This record gives sequence, C-alpha cells and structure tokens, in this order.
Amino acid sequence: MISILLVNGPNLNMLGKREPEIYGSQTLDDIVASLNRLMTEELGGKLEHVQSNHEGVLIDAIHQAKGVHDGIVINPGAFTHYSYALRDALASVMLPTIEIHMSNVHAREEFRHTSVIAPIVLGQVVGLGSDGYEWALRALVRKIQANR
Ligand code: DQA
Repeated sequence: MISILLVNGPNLNMLGKREPEIYGSQTLDDIVASLNRLMTEELGGKLEHVQSNHEGVLIDAIHQAKGVHDGIVINPGAFTHYSYALRDALASVMLPTIEIHMSNVHAREEFRHTSVIAPIVLGQVVGLGSDGYEWALRALVRKIQANR
C-alpha cells in the first residue's frame, strides 16, 4: 500500500479565511478530507498530513518520513522562496516529491517567482487552486507505482 506524506507550510492553516480571492474558500480541513477520500477510496493508499507554521517542525516531519512513507506532496508556503533548510531536508530523505502551489506564483510578486525547492523535486503543480493537491497526489502515486 502506498503511503504519502502531505506537508503544508506556514499560513496554510488559514485557508478559507486568508485572501479568498487568491486561495479560494475551502479550508485546509476540507482539502485534506477530500484527499484522504481520494487516497483510500480510489488510489488504494494512505495519507498522513502535517501542517506547521514552524520551519523546524516541517523539517523534523520530513526526516521522519524516511522509511515510513513512499513520497511527499508539499506546499511549502512562503518557505518555498527562501528556505534552504527545507530544501536540504527534502534532498536528504531522497523521497519522490511534488511541490504544489494553489496560486499561480509566476503571475504574482517577483519574490514568488523563485522556488529554492523546485530543483530537487520531481515536478510542480502551480496555479490550479485546491485541485492542484489532487493532481499532485495522482501524479506522485502514478510515478511511485511505475517505479515498483
Ligand atoms: C503558496 C504561494 C506562496 O507564495 C505563499 O507564500 C503561500 C501559498 C500557494 O499555495 O500558492 O503561502 O504556496
């Protein structure tokens, strides 16, 4: 059974309340509940979720994923743009990883155009709103299955 760790970074606990014109009206709980359904009912795997506003908590969760999960879907929030520590954590566990951003970061402020995470992940899903989590999860599961 495929096991995926879903990681959400800072401020994503505010989804639904936070800038709904950019991030939509769904809460993080809504998103995680539908991903859990997708994973158990359709993809036949399991999902563990961690959200934190603290870089070290995210890094610890990534380290602990090694040997436990088969891959990672991550929305690093603003850490995307400058956290070398998060990037190194992902590189150190060497699990297949997909980065997701709900908004089209390339159409926003210039500082959002750079991802220090992107060079060490399989790929990115950007700008598709909360649906992006679903595409990221489906793509990751397919990759892992293909490599078995
Ligand atoms: C985000 C984009 C980031 O620039 C921002 O800091 C976030 C959310 C997104 O999902 O679009 O917190 O990762």
